[in-house]
Amino acid sequence: MGKVFICDHPLIQHKLAYIRDEKTITKDFRELVDEVATLMAYEITRDIPLTDAQVTTPVTTANCRMISGRMLGLIPILRAGLGMVDGILKLVPAAKVGHIGLYRDPETLQPVEYYVKLPTDVQERELIVIDPMLATGGSANAAIELLKRRGCSSMKLMCLIAAPEGIKAVQNAHPEIDIYVAAIDDFLNDHGYIVPGLGDAGDRLFGTK
Ligand code: PRP
Ligand code: URA
Repeated sequence: MGKVFICDHPLIQHKLAYIRDEKTITKDFRELVDEVATLMAYEITRDIPLTDAQVTTPVTTANCRMISGRMLGLIPILRAGLGMVDGILKLVPAAKVGHIGLYRDPETLQPVEYYVKLPTDVQERELIVIDPMLATGGSANAAIELLKRRGCSSMKLMCLIAAPEGIKAVQNAHPEIDIYVAAIDDFLNDHGYIVPGLGDAGDRLFGTK
């Protein structure tokens, strides 16, 4: 079974409190999500394999370690996943970015696909599927299924806030996937919103409503 990692670094938790706050304006919300994404990227890349390397310093030769192995791919689920991409790219600027456009039908809560554009070598990359909100898990599961259908085998899921229902849904459908979250909230309300949550992540990021 994939693991669930709660990124409980004090800076992440502090910033998440402001992100949740209904008084936080769009500009600050966007900046805070970007900052938390960078901090979470530090956690999610912790197990990247290293290889020995030698570097010539101005003084002598140094035995160092550098990243080896498969390159990264970031897969934000549109729209709200976009808010976390730049923050992660600050730490892994060579990662390629693929986009999966899904919106949740407000009546059925089922994900509806409207856009897909992936790197040509996506199957060879270690992927991080990114969505701030893991509510029913329908969107994350649809994105992961789509990637698996295209031959991708190595992925992690990164979210800001997850509902227990969403975690269970991903674990049932994709038991091998590790999930990284900043918080696990209490439950979903009748409209499929995470409680206490932060409201609609896409609307708050882009100032729409
Ligand atoms: C939100 C959120 C997730 C999805 C989570 O997207 O960004 O993608 O809902 O819900 P789920 O786990 O129940 O699928 P939304 O449909 O509001 O689209 P948006 O990002 O374009 O605002
Ligand atoms: N999508 C959001 O943006 N927020 C929620 O609470 C649930 C789904």
